[in-house]
Amino acid sequence: MSAPESLTIRRPDDWHLHLRDGPILRAVVGYTARQFARAIVMPNLVPPVVATAEIAAYRDRILAALPDGARFTPLMTAYLTDNIDPDDLAQGHADGVITAAKLYPAGATTNSDRGVTDIRKIDAALARMAEIGMPLLVHGEVTHGHVDIFDREAVFIEEVLKPLMDRQPDLKIVLEHITTAEAVAAVEGGGARIAATVTPHHLLINRTDLFRGGVRPHLYCLPIAKRERHRQAVRAFATSGQSRVFLGTDSAPHPIAEKESACGCAGIFSAPSALELYAEAFEEDGVLDRLEAFASLNGPAFYGLPVNQETVTLTRAPLNVDGPITIDADTAILPFRSGETLRWRLS
Ligand code: DOR
Ligand code: ZN
Repeated sequence: MSAPESLTIRRPDDWHLHLRDGPILRAVVGYTARQFARAIVMPNLVPPVVATAEIAAYRDRILAALPDGARFTPLMTAYLTDNIDPDDLAQGHADGVITAAKLYPAGATTNSDRGVTDIRKIDAALARMAEIGMPLLVHGEVTHGHVDIFDREAVFIEEVLKPLMDRQPDLKIVLEHITTAEAVAAVEGGGARIAATVTPHHLLINRTDLFRGGVRPHLYCLPIAKRERHRQAVRAFATSGQSRVFLGTDSAPHPIAEKESACGCAGIFSAPSALELYAEAFEEDGVLDRLEAFASLNGPAFYGLPVNQETVTLTRAPLNVDGPITIDADTAILPFRSGETLRWRLS
C-alpha cells in the first residue's frame, strides 16, 4: 500500500498547554487556535492562578487575545497550593470555569514555587475532586536535591503517584508529559482512572540530542528528555492505539534571552507546528491511521467531553518551520525545529 498523500481527522485538542499572559499570550495563542479546537491551559503564571475568580479573569484575557474569527475554547485549570480551598475549587468546577486542577510539586519546574510542598497537605482537596469527578493533572517529578534529574519521574511514581492512587481510588489522574518506561507502565497498569499526555518533543528527542555538538538550550524542558530506551517506550505507547494516552504539547514559550542564558529556562515552544510534528512520528512508525485517536478522540473520552465535529486535513508537503517570532524590540521566541523542514502541513 502506498503512503497516503493526505489525512483528514477530527479537529484535535491540546490537553497540556502554556499560553502565558500579556504580550507573549497575544503572540502565541493564534498558533494553537489555528490547529486545536480546545486546550487545557496551564495555570503557572506569576503569580499563579489559584482561585476561581482569577482563573475566570485569565480565561477572559485568553479569549480577548484570540485572532479575529478564531474558534477556540480554553479549558482552564487551577494551580494547587498547600492552602487550596476545596470549596472554591468545587464551585469553580460546578460553574464550568475550571476543568481540572494541576499539581506542581513545589520547585519542580518553571513558576512552581507556590506549588504543593507535601501532597498530604492537599488530601481534602483531592478527596473532593474525586467526589465531583474533577481530574488531577500531575507534573510527575520529585524535587529532592539528592535525586538525579533523570530519575525524578520514576521516583515520583513510586513515592508519590502509587500511594496517591491507593489513597484516592476514585480520583481521575492525568500523568502529564511522560518521559519514561516507568511512567508508561504505571499508566498502562493503572486502569481506567489514569491517562497520560505525550509531547511532540519527547517522541522525537532523547537526552543525547540535548548535547549534540554542544549544549542545546532550546531542547531543555522538564521533565528532561531521557535516554533512547525511554523515548522508544513512550513513543511505542503513544502510537500503540491504547485509548488512555493522548496529545498534550506542553508548548512553553520563553524569550530567547532566557533560554540562551547561564541559567536557561525549561520549556519548548512547539505550538506553530505541533500537529505536523506528531504526524511525523506516527508516520515513521507506520501508524498514521492511529493519529486521530491520539490527537482527537482519546482526550475527550477521558475528560468526558464531546469529540469535535469539524475536521482538519494534513497534506504531505514540505513545511518550513519559521524562525524567531518577534514579541517586541527586545523579545523573541524560537519555535521547536525552527529553520527545519517537516514532511506534513496542515491545510
Ligand atoms: O519545560 C517545562 N516548561 N516544563 C514545565 O513543567 C513547565 C514549562 C513552563 O512553564 O515553561
Ligand atoms: Zn507544562
